[in-house]
Amino acid sequence: MSLVGSVRHVTGPAVVPRPLRLQQLPDEPFVLLPGIAVVAPDAAARHAAQRLAALVGGSVQAAAAPDTPVLRLRLLGRDGDDLAGDDLADDDGQPAAERLPTGDELPVGDEAYRLRVRPDGVEVDARTPAGLGHAITTLAQLLTRTTAGAQVLPAVLVLDAPRFAWRGLSIDVARHFVRVGDLEVVVDLMADHKLNVLHLHLTDDQAWRIDLPSRPELVRRSSGASVGGDPGGHYTAEDYARLVAYAVARGIAVVPELDVPGHVNAALHAYGDLSPSGRPTDEYLGIEVGFSRLTAALPATGAFLHDVFGDIAAMTPGPYVHIGGDEVQGMAPDEYATLVGTAAAAVRAAGKQVVGWQEIATTPLEPGTVVQYWDVHADPAPFVAAGAAGARLLLSPGDRTYLDMKYHPGYPLGLEWAGHVELRDSYDWEPATLLPGLPAEALLGVEAAVWTETLRTLDDLTTMLLPRLAAVAEVAWSAADRRDWEDFRTRVAALGARWDAAGLSWYPSPQVDWQR
Ligand code: ACM
Repeated sequence: MSLVGSVRHVTGPAVVPRPLRLQQLPDEPFVLLPGIAVVAPDAAARHAAQRLAALVGGSVQAAAAPDTPVLRLRLLGRDGDDLAGDDLADDDGQPAAERLPTGDELPVGDEAYRLRVRPDGVEVDARTPAGLGHAITTLAQLLTRTTAGAQVLPAVLVLDAPRFAWRGLSIDVARHFVRVGDLEVVVDLMADHKLNVLHLHLTDDQAWRIDLPSRPELVRRSSGASVGGDPGGHYTAEDYARLVAYAVARGIAVVPELDVPGHVNAALHAYGDLSPSGRPTDEYLGIEVGFSRLTAALPATGAFLHDVFGDIAAMTPGPYVHIGGDEVQGMAPDEYATLVGTAAAAVRAAGKQVVGWQEIATTPLEPGTVVQYWDVHADPAPFVAAGAAGARLLLSPGDRTYLDMKYHPGYPLGLEWAGHVELRDSYDWEPATLLPGLPAEALLGVEAAVWTETLRTLDDLTTMLLPRLAAVAEVAWSAADRRDWEDFRTRVAALGARWDAAGLSWYPSPQVDWQR
């Protein structure tokens, strides 16, 4: 070790979210030499391999010379068979599957991974590129530098898979426009926390941020500004495609939201025939909610819903489109149900599955519809009933996962209508018991949300996300019996230095003894 130096961190590996199993092995650490080979025989593993090579300063190769220490990435068949068959035999000719000790199998699930670091190399196995990506995220958190500057990985066996299939982050790009480049930073942060759904709240009273071919006036008239008159903007179809591809390459699906039948002033400002008066409404750049609405009886309304949901579905490769449905004040239940039903039918006709905020649970829903819980003051009975009748519940409780809530009274950014949300509040809750009576199979996942009424810059956004995003990510990823606040606070402490190194603004919660 004298040439290599000693390892600085003595607290043990700090992986967030906490893996299903992380076993420290009694071996020496693996020392990575510059230019180390990242071996990925399967073409589908190449993107993950490039990411790993960039992380460690290595080079991607299809095969390695015998007896050379390598980082090896493998995709196994979903049935447990090696996809690449004999090509993946080890250097000594022994098939890959036989080298795995019993009891160390890759956990079930498409996103599972197995990571083994030994003094002579690293082996990563997964069933999908997304699983490989999660393993690389774990490797990034395990990587340390010795006092002499060498990169080392501790000898470990990690067996890991997510608890929930949907681990999301919703970003409001309507109240304040968020440029594609800034969203890419957010996507990278999501991948760093093993999140897999980016939900974009693309429209609201203040603005319509996505250019749709059938309705060009939406962005032409209604995207020029943000709350308070701040600069606006919109995404072209090319911008959106680029962002979706960037996210998909990191294992993240984009779920676009066009919020109807309330939160629609931007649409009414662009198209006068959506209002009973026949005239466009005024631009609105304040932060009130609940005052705007579509009207079921107007002939233009059905065509509008059909056009905009058809367009956004066609532009979105992922399986879900979000129809909003929240906070419509003063609309009769029948009219609300009609409008939600029309939007949902347009989404389904375009081949996508429907997501909506919790209010849609009061309307007739097709089985499989995703209901996103958010307002903890509402009577939960309709959501539990919807889950029992075949809907799936996505949990975004405002007092836990609304990451635009102030950390404490007087905090300069954010709002406080759902309470003050410190790091521990985001961490210390249990999805399975949040809605008592909800059938376990109806629980689809957990999603953080950040609304941007008061958030004007990327620094504002990341300051609200970090460190709470790490807490919500662990709630969504880690098994219930692997979660413990005291344990989390010691692990998350190591992330601060990484955020500093990445130049990210973040909130140094006094609940953690940060390593900086
Ligand atoms: C919401 O916070 N209105 C979904």
